Amino acid sequence: MTQSIEELKQQTESLLQEAISQIAAAEDSQMLNTIRVNFTGKKSELNNISKMMGKLDKDQKPELGKAISGFHANFNQHLDDKISQLKAEELNKKLAGEVLDVTLPGKTPKVGTKHILTQTREEIETFFLGLGYQVVDGPEVEVDLYNFEKMNLPKNHPARDMQDTFYIDQELLLRTHTSPVQARTMEKHDFSKGPLKMISPGKVFRRDDDDATHSHQFQQVEGLVVDKSIKLSDLKGTLLAFSKAMFGEETEIRLRPSYFPFTEPSVEVDVTCFKCHGEGCPMCKHTGWIEILGAGMVHPDVLEMSGIDPTEYSGFAFGLGIERVAMLRYNIDDIRHFYQNDLRFLSQFKGGQN
Ligand code: PHE
Repeated sequence: MTQSIEELKQQTESLLQEAISQIAAAEDSQMLNTIRVNFTGKKSELNNISKMMGKLDKDQKPELGKAISGFHANFNQHLDDKISQLKAEELNKKLAGEVLDVTLPGKTPKVGTKHILTQTREEIETFFLGLGYQVVDGPEVEVDLYNFEKMNLPKNHPARDMQDTFYIDQELLLRTHTSPVQARTMEKHDFSKGPLKMISPGKVFRRDDDDATHSHQFQQVEGLVVDKSIKLSDLKGTLLAFSKAMFGEETEIRLRPSYFPFTEPSVEVDVTCFKCHGEGCPMCKHTGWIEILGAGMVHPDVLEMSGIDPTEYSGFAFGLGIERVAMLRYNIDDIRHFYQNDLRFLSQFKGGQN
């Protein structure tokens, strides 16, 4: 059956109208794709119409050609418009679903804090760095030679009893104090480059029954200054400045005679009670004073054992407990709080040094 050019043009036009209304009704790009295939693909009616071209008169061919390309132009235009419309709708939908309230408070990340013992240690370090001291490190697993013998505690010395410790073998032990770092530093020091001024913070260990004020492991800071004509008054001045920095400007100190095998004379240093300022209260056991550290002039034998001539050089040394300083400053009643990792305790010490 042959169709007239008019019929073919008519058919093309109604195909276009049908396509336009289907495009308008499409809901997504998949539907549009199906419409494209149905109306312009090999099996489409439009394709059948094109095939009629051969059967037309010569002067009618361009007429049909024009109608078909008109279809394509129109069809593509509507398709493109619909695609942009669908895209815009999708975007709007997405945006509507993702309403961003910029006035909502942000989620604050949980920032941890340095352990209060670390903060205290760093504060002590900062103070002594300011006085030109160097901060040195020493081994926690120490040899008997440095922990005891070079500190004037020969084998069988009775003072060893107070510092019983954990032994790895006959010679190797967990250090009982930071004092062995004195010997290690003195041996290496080159006095042609200036006096020796050092502190050495670190862990120490003792065979002890743990109670509110004792732990088998705690931290000390050793201090040592060696030069020509170092005097007890240098020690006192240094410790007074330190105590004021740690416990407040109004703090005073006193030295009481004591005994350590590695210092001569040896002293125990007290600070005025920062709670009652010397009046007497439970904190200072009604004495007005609180003991904070042990110190003394480096024993000549200790200097000599580390290769320093005691007739030419002298020095002072001190050792303080970091836990003790922190307990006094923050009124902490049990040393075990430091080691139990209870956040209710630890998080109270935010906002110390950074
Ligand atoms: N090492 C001593 C102790 O642990 C403290 C101390 C250090 C005393 C330096 C005097 C000089 O008890």
